[in-house]
Amino acid sequence: MKDYIIRRLLENMGGYVSGEELCEHSGVTRSAVWKYISSLRDEGFKIEAASGKGYSLREIPDVLCQAAIEHYTENNDFWKKIIVLNMVDSTNLYLRSLCNLRAAEGTAVFASCQTDGRGRRGRVWQSPDSDGIYMSVLLTPDMPYEKVPIMSLYAAVAVKKAVEEVCNISCDIKWPNDLQVGGKKLCGILCEVTGEINNDFYCIIGIGINANHKKRSFEKDIRDTATSVLLETGHTVDRCKLAAAVLNNFYKLYKKDGFSIDEYRKDCITLNNEITVLRGDNAISAYALDVTSTGGLLIKTDDGKISEVKSGEVSIRAAGNKNDK
Ligand code: BTN
Repeated sequence: MKDYIIRRLLENMGGYVSGEELCEHSGVTRSAVWKYISSLRDEGFKIEAASGKGYSLREIPDVLCQAAIEHYTENNDFWKKIIVLNMVDSTNLYLRSLCNLRAAEGTAVFASCQTDGRGRRGRVWQSPDSDGIYMSVLLTPDMPYEKVPIMSLYAAVAVKKAVEEVCNISCDIKWPNDLQVGGKKLCGILCEVTGEINNDFYCIIGIGINANHKKRSFEKDIRDTATSVLLETGHTVDRCKLAAAVLNNFYKLYKKDGFSIDEYRKDCITLNNEITVLRGDNAISAYALDVTSTGGLLIKTDDGKISEVKSGEVSIRAAGNKNDK
């Protein structure tokens, strides 16, 4: 009910929706509508009431809100189920548990904070309450299992476009799927595949965007290597709008316009550079030549050998940079 009211108010943002209309469509009394409006105000929604006109939404609080994300999302027939949680261990783990219940492609989970946010290669993804966007989407791509890692490259391009559109920030992609601004990390992506190689499988794409983090929101260990939309622009971003823009751009690449690996190449700062490949405790110097059709990185090592490294196996850092993981 509350979601219906938010949706109608959002559709008429700045204009008025009559109390009568809200009652009629939601099937509740005027006093019930008033109670919902009061509780929305308690949550930080600035709603004006004018006699003879109704209610007008003037400002949305910085909360992740299902109705608002749905409102900004363009392809609700694909993004069929948008789930917003206050707290969860990890949105990737949550979606994984839904896979056991045969969840549908296009399910998307968002959380205000994560208690066990997971990064690539077993690292922790710091997920402070209400600062970031922590989201995972469930896909069943029609491609061979071996090709699925390419999906995390789709995600990198989709988030890059969303951040450009909504925040006016231009990001670089560090292979495979980190988004950076001025060498600092703005977004990380964790792509996981569940199921059998020869049977149906699910691809879960987890995306963490540093949105409204202040410097002190980051733990000391990453304070100098991470950045956020707020730190880059000086303004907080409407996380619902940015989250929906990620879904919209992802849909375009995945279902509508198609994914262009050349577009990825253009924005990937790893390519055509000296890099250090970290595999366990081993560090190898190499030159990054290209990205393969399965999302791997083609490298040339100092002995002249050309090989492909897969995203799950290694970390990359710019040659000579000790901190950048
Ligand atoms: C990385 O190490 O760069 C990948 C970070 C991925 C973080 C996101 S936040 C939402 C989703 N849930 C998780 O536990 N991890 C991913």
